[in-house]
Amino acid sequence: MPQRPNVLVTRPIMDEPTRVLKERCEVTIHENDFGIPRDELLTMVKGTDAVITMLTEEVDSEFLDAAGPQLKIVANHAVGFDNVDLAACTAAGVMASNTPDVLTETTADTAWALLMAAARRLGEGERFLRAKRQWIWGPLMMLGQDVHHKAIGIVGFGRIGQAIGRRARGFGMKVIYHDSVELPKDVTEPLGAERRDLDDLLTEADFISIHVNLTPQTRHLFGAEQFRRMKPTAILVNTSRGPVVDEAALVEALRAGEIFAAGLDVFENEPEVHPGLLELENAVVIPHLGSATVDTRNAMGMLAVENVFAALEGKPPPTLLNPEVLEGA
Ligand code: 8YV
Repeated sequence: MPQRPNVLVTRPIMDEPTRVLKERCEVTIHENDFGIPRDELLTMVKGTDAVITMLTEEVDSEFLDAAGPQLKIVANHAVGFDNVDLAACTAAGVMASNTPDVLTETTADTAWALLMAAARRLGEGERFLRAKRQWIWGPLMMLGQDVHHKAIGIVGFGRIGQAIGRRARGFGMKVIYHDSVELPKDVTEPLGAERRDLDDLLTEADFISIHVNLTPQTRHLFGAEQFRRMKPTAILVNTSRGPVVDEAALVEALRAGEIFAAGLDVFENEPEVHPGLLELENAVVIPHLGSATVDTRNAMGMLAVENVFAALEGKPPPTLLNPEVLEGA
């Protein structure tokens, strides 16, 4: 590792990973809560040996050019890496890494919380009480949908999708999944998970939870046609990336009662939220809190730092996304 390499961290991260990073590196942290403006980012990245980025920063050839040839790694503080142009990183000889595994269970918990809240109308109930309306218990009041023993369709059956499957099993649910690959029996059998085409999953599932990466193929995977196929009692949960869902079409489907409710952690034009969603009682919306717990954010920070240290020492980072960059290195 060079003597005290320069590392930029684009947003403040937890204390422990910050402390560990500062022991061995000159660290600059951008302290603005609303993110780092692009022109400032391009100035600050100049001359750095490593950068810890968030999903709020676009890592493309402009970014890599601005950084300069000494840049070794872009360590994304997220499992998702749709903000990182991997081909551009490889072409520039820069390693890119993410933070998988450490946030799997926490993100699945968030998806499950959204699923429960949407099914049982918890957001609406809270708003109702806080509005100090007159009320008395009623046999027909705010009826939701049962979760237990229903069918859940998991779209994208990777690490987080499978963690949803485990939770669903505990609720006695039938688990069906859609994925581009058929998962091995040691994954599917304990969950009783059966593979479906997307169209069949849409018609069969009472709950649908989305866990795909954002790619050109998954952009607007859910739109008007998909909502029409779903049951009018169905509930959609999205903790992956906003653009996987056509938000305007979702607003229409929720408004028209084509589906029962949605629970959303992510938005198409984040941080903007479609104004229609904010008016709908059957939309539960939270501000991208998927991995937002103390333990998990510590673990994500530590893994990002581990990736940085490995790259600076000339070793393969533990969660390298573009191993091809090492060929010929
Ligand atoms: C993070 C996420 O909060 O890891 C991801 O892909 O979406 C979230 O868990 C966020 O990405 C931090 O940059």
